[in-house]
Amino acid sequence: MALFITALLSLSVAMVGVGGATPATTPSSVHSVIQCHDWGESGDGAVRVMEGEACWLHCPLFSHPTVYNYNSVQAAGLNLVWYHVAAGQDLEQPIDFHHPDQRLSKEREKLWLQPTTTQDAGQYICMLRNRTSCAKMAVRLEVLPSGQDPNCEVTAAVPPTVVIAPIQEGSILTCPDLEDIKLPNTSHSVTWYHECNAFGNFNINRVIKGDKLAIYVMLEHYQGLYHCVVTYETKGRAIKFTRVVNVTAVSPSGLPKQPNILNPAKEQLYPVKQGSEVKLTCRVSLPYLKGPRETWWTIDGKTVDQLADPRISFTSRVVLDYFGDWTVENVLRILEFSSEDLTREYNCSGRNSRDVATRRAVLEEEVYLPSVELGCGLGVTLFLMLLLFVVYHIFWLELLLLYRSWFGTDERCTDNKEYDIYISYARNSEEEQFVLLTLRRVLENELGYTVCIFDRDSLPGGNVSEAVLRCMQSSRCLLVVLSPAYLTEKSVSLLECRVGLYIQLTSHAHIITVLYSPLPRLPASCTEAKQLRRSTATITWRGRQSEPSTSRFWKRLRLTLPVRPLALGRRLIDSTSSHSDLAASLGQQRQPQDAAEPQRQRDGKSAAGSGGRGRGRKWRIQRIQEARSREMSKVKEAHSINP
Ligand SMILES: *[C@@H]1O[C@H](CO)[C@@H](O)[C@H](O)[C@H]1NC(C)=O
Ligand SMILES: *[C@@H]1O[C@H](CO)[C@@H](O)[C@H](O)[C@H]1NC(C)=O
Ligand SMILES: *[C@@H]1O[C@H](CO)[C@@H](O)[C@H](O)[C@H]1NC(C)=O
Ligand SMILES: *[C@@H]1O[C@H](CO)[C@@H](O)[C@H](O)[C@H]1NC(C)=O
Repeated sequence: MALFITALLSLSVAMVGVGGATPATTPSSVHSVIQCHDWGESGDGAVRVMEGEACWLHCPLFSHPTVYNYNSVQAAGLNLVWYHVAAGQDLEQPIDFHHPDQRLSKEREKLWLQPTTTQDAGQYICMLRNRTSCAKMAVRLEVLPSGQDPNCEVTAAVPPTVVIAPIQEGSILTCPDLEDIKLPNTSHSVTWYHECNAFGNFNINRVIKGDKLAIYVMLEHYQGLYHCVVTYETKGRAIKFTRVVNVTAVSPSGLPKQPNILNPAKEQLYPVKQGSEVKLTCRVSLPYLKGPRETWWTIDGKTVDQLADPRISFTSRVVLDYFGDWTVENVLRILEFSSEDLTREYNCSGRNSRDVATRRAVLEEEVYLPSVELGCGLGVTLFLMLLLFVVYHIFWLELLLLYRSWFGTDERCTDNKEYDIYISYARNSEEEQFVLLTLRRVLENELGYTVCIFDRDSLPGGNVSEAVLRCMQSSRCLLVVLSPAYLTEKSVSLLECRVGLYIQLTSHAHIITVLYSPLPRLPASCTEAKQLRRSTATITWRGRQSEPSTSRFWKRLRLTLPVRPLALGRRLIDSTSSHSDLAASLGQQRQPQDAAEPQRQRDGKSAAGSGGRGRGRKWRIQRIQEARSREMSKVKEAHSINP
């Protein structure tokens, strides 16, 4: 602009000088002498028009009224001349305004084409000239073929004019250019279209008023393009031109329009970590108002551009647009956040034409918490604990047995007892069968214990109670098979029970109770049973369920019986399920006399059938001899230990 003016002024000065030097030159010679200053083509872009519609061209020299305006130009005696350079040619032709079809006309600084044809496209040069000065400038005209848009009966070559209409409020649409130009002195009419549909007389909210369209209450669906077609008559011809209005709804003007900082909220803390990238997000609500709207960050009062720190940048975008009310998100990004950055003041601001809002973002240094690692560790630990708990719950008997077999001490090496277990039971066929067939078989054959069954292993005759006492004293523990029949008055079993309890009291004998069948409510006088139940380990026999040697009954029983240590190198499962191999070999070493008669020892049938009293004489004599020799050796040992 400034350049344009100075150039123009200097040009006029030069032309004045030239004019003064040659005052007598004719206009034709001026033509040849004065070089016409060419301003080139207008920078405002081409004028576009639909073929068949009316259009007018402003001489672009008048686009800066301070330089040329029509009245002063006339006063200076300047002539306005139009030339046309048809598209694809470069020959300037003066425009013939006297053509019989009278399509083209000149009205002050405007050139009218009523209507336009395709041949009219090209450059139009407007030249201002007097005897001493000349200037020219061009404008381009583009003619679009009619019927361009098949979806819409109305098309406009001119870009839409934007109209902002607040929701629920009234607006008046005027057809662009209609008021600015002076139409010939005939009546004209305006037809309105919305989204290509012609209005009759719309409805209660949108009414045509003269040339204008009145929207009484703006609604969301009233948005969009409105075409207006202006029709008039000139020189016996019907002429029209079309314009477009783009109506956009915005929020009601009565709502508050102040900008508002949503984030940082009051008391919001932004966690930051030193050495890493930090992103501070600011959200500002910027209500619609005419004029620019923006958001920005300041650091210690300086904008990002002022700081010019390559580590610091920001991005800003509209995340929500509700009828022109924006929510803008502005993210400040700081790379390699340092302890120095922590002490700076970060402010986020937003502005529209009403006001400016600012709020400070308070930073908080984040302490590193390896939550994922901790969580995983804790999870694994809990899982392992649960697993151990389940394993222990299911296999506790096996584990205890294993522990005992590895770490327990074998009493056989430290005492001089002859038997491991003395079995005391009621002498009736059911219990005898259980003791001799089941209990004895498993204990002797499978678990390798030496068992003393009084009826089988004692000498006949003599004082029974003394014999019982002796047998019990030479056993490591006493196993009582408890049942209602066991406590029958004056039975051998009750005697055994009393002797057992007596030994327990005097020399802490180890008593184990196997509850063979449930006891009825015990009479108050039955102190033995109570004492047994109270002071001894009780294992319940559950019939068939307890029969297999892998059942809980046998495992529990083994836990209470004297320890049989585990031989090294044996398999784990083996060691917990049975000691039989080891025990068998041990038993054979210790008791060669048993090995001499394996058949009898392992077969409880003969004993069971006769109740333990009907054995062969030969066997009994042998047992007596053995017992005697044992007694003798014990007496000797006792003497040698305690002289
Ligand atoms: C021609 O126009 C210029 C303005 O552009 C003016 O200064 C000058 O006086 C005019 N010359 C004559 C002879 O009227
Ligand atoms: C234009 O119309 C008005 C009345 O509408 C009339 O008075 C006037 O004379 C007309 N002018 C011309 C040039 O026809
Ligand atoms: C109308 O204006 C709005 C914004 O003011 C714009 O988003 C939309 O694209 C315009 N429609 C057309 C068809 O130009
Ligand atoms: C930052 O914002 C706070 C209000 O949140 C204001 O008090 C302070 O003056 C602002 N600082 C600068 C440098 O603009």
